[in-house]
Amino acid sequence: MLAYYDAWEHHTSEDAWAKSWWEMSAHIGDRIATILGGARGSVQVQPNASIALSSVLSCFDFTSTKRSKIVASGLDFPSMRYILDAQTPMGARVETVASDDGVTIPTERILAAIDDGAALVALSHVSFRSSYRTEVEPIVERAHKHGALVLLDVYQSAGVVPLKTSEWGVDFLIGGTIKWLCGGPACGYLYVRPDLQGRLQPKLTGWVAHSTPFDFAPPPISYDKSVRRFAQGTPSIPALYSVLPGLQIIEEVGVESCRAESARRTEWMIDFALERGWKVNSPRDVNQRGGSVMIYVDDGPGMVQRLNERGVFVDCRPGVGLRMSPHFFNTDEEVQEAMEILAEVI
Ligand SMILES: Cc1ncc(COP(=O)(O)O)c(C=O)c1O
Repeated sequence: MLAYYDAWEHHTSEDAWAKSWWEMSAHIGDRIATILGGARGSVQVQPNASIALSSVLSCFDFTSTKRSKIVASGLDFPSMRYILDAQTPMGARVETVASDDGVTIPTERILAAIDDGAALVALSHVSFRSSYRTEVEPIVERAHKHGALVLLDVYQSAGVVPLKTSEWGVDFLIGGTIKWLCGGPACGYLYVRPDLQGRLQPKLTGWVAHSTPFDFAPPPISYDKSVRRFAQGTPSIPALYSVLPGLQIIEEVGVESCRAESARRTEWMIDFALERGWKVNSPRDVNQRGGSVMIYVDDGPGMVQRLNERGVFVDCRPGVGLRMSPHFFNTDEEVQEAMEILAEVI
């Protein structure tokens, strides 16, 4: 942020826009793409994940086709659900696949909802409320077989779960850099499958999406050929600066290492919790989990506060309890100490 301040201080004499700021979105997009397991040129930074999703939805015309269904899940982040719901006056039908236990959703149930009427399957890869990890490959396979596209919200997985975006053939990813990517608030991103990009014309748009933005041409817009066609207006440069150190650290540590540490520690945390008879609201199977562990407590906000006073920093979500999220920078000793403090506080 001091580097931003310095560039801003001198930007008129050195023209920071021409020197680096204009290119910054594309450079950061490429670095995020690599972490997501996608190709260079497949990620456009966005103000946040909600706008990224809105951009994708604005490419669809739900009114003039029978293919108007959006398949979603009951474990998705509220933004996603609000934004999908907002498409219904434009002709979309949203089918939300329910979770019986509030923690998991059987893959078969999602697959059963995908038919020839589906335009888009839009799901969390890892759920914000239970850390449940969706099985990607069968969903992409079935959706593509029925002519539907697949969007995954990877906000809760990118940086702690290795993603094989190109291999999976998934069409869109949305997310942001605040969580496992250790960035500041707020920089979102949108991945679009490279061979799909040129076929889409987002109605949520702006001058930065134009092929020659500095011509300031009259409408209609001529979308850029690159993933920049999914941009809107001026990028938030301070947000981009706030992303850089986190990306560098995650690149150096490597997502595979983050995952290995996370899997070992969260397994241990769950064993610790179950031995004491606590209710764990995350899947027991490490292959069905992201990086967080939810442990039920009666008074979530009060417990967060009491743990905070003891130097243990966690959060909570309604109905599921504490959300504990050790990352690569924690030590095993810290994780053990945190769980012992939790036992004392409980
Ligand atoms: C799964 C998921 N999606 C989206 C968001 C937030 O998105 P936005 O960048 O729009 O704030 C969060 C934030 O907590 C999240 O957990």
